[in-house]
Amino acid sequence: MAATADADEALRIRPAVAADVPAVIALDEEVTVLAKPAYWHDMFERYGARGRRARFFLVAERLDRLKGFVIGETRAWEFGSPPCGWIFAIQVRPKGRLKGVGTQLFNAICDRFRETGVVNVRTMLALDNITILSFFRSQGMMAGPFIELETTLESSADRT
Ligand SMILES: CC(C)(COP(=O)(O)OP(=O)(O)OC[C@H]1O[C@@H](n2cnc3c(N)ncnc32)[C@H](O)[C@@H]1OP(=O)(O)O)[C@@H](O)C(=O)NCCC(=O)NCCS
Repeated sequence: MAATADADEALRIRPAVAADVPAVIALDEEVTVLAKPAYWHDMFERYGARGRRARFFLVAERLDRLKGFVIGETRAWEFGSPPCGWIFAIQVRPKGRLKGVGTQLFNAICDRFRETGVVNVRTMLALDNITILSFFRSQGMMAGPFIELETTLESSADRT
């Protein structure tokens, strides 16, 4: 009965408020098996607090329960790129997946990006994360014109 009521209730997508942060921390810990409270409080300060122009921290809730969240920002001229929307994080509760919540979060943040005047959206993901790759591909995202390069820094001790 409770499950039916939950499914019948419309999903609501809205900007995150400070009271959402503990549920975001719990969801991320459930997904990644790593608790990062300081990181998520900092993300809320940078992307969720009011007055952050072109920065978006949105949550999806149903019956007052957090079902997922997405964070992103419109950035300009980094890496020589014209203004573009960036998605930094998207997560949906494991028990609520494959029901369109991720798609609704993606569409909601794309609407916010559109309002800032951009036409391109980017993200970055681990090559072995097939779930998130399949999800972003399903949203029409494909390999873009940039590639990520990285190196491992020698420790100071190794350099002396
Ligand atoms: C990726 C994620 C956000 C998708 O959320 P979701 O609510 O399940 O997504 P949707 O129901 O809107 O799925 C949309 C489409 O994505 C694709 N997709 C989603 N999950 C998939 C999976 N596990 N395997 C294959 N394709 C998948 C499908 O094409 C799906 O469409 P379909 O249901 O018609 O087949 C969710 O699985 C998640 O939170 N994963 C962990 C996120 C993560 O690793 N984050 C770390 C980086 S921030």
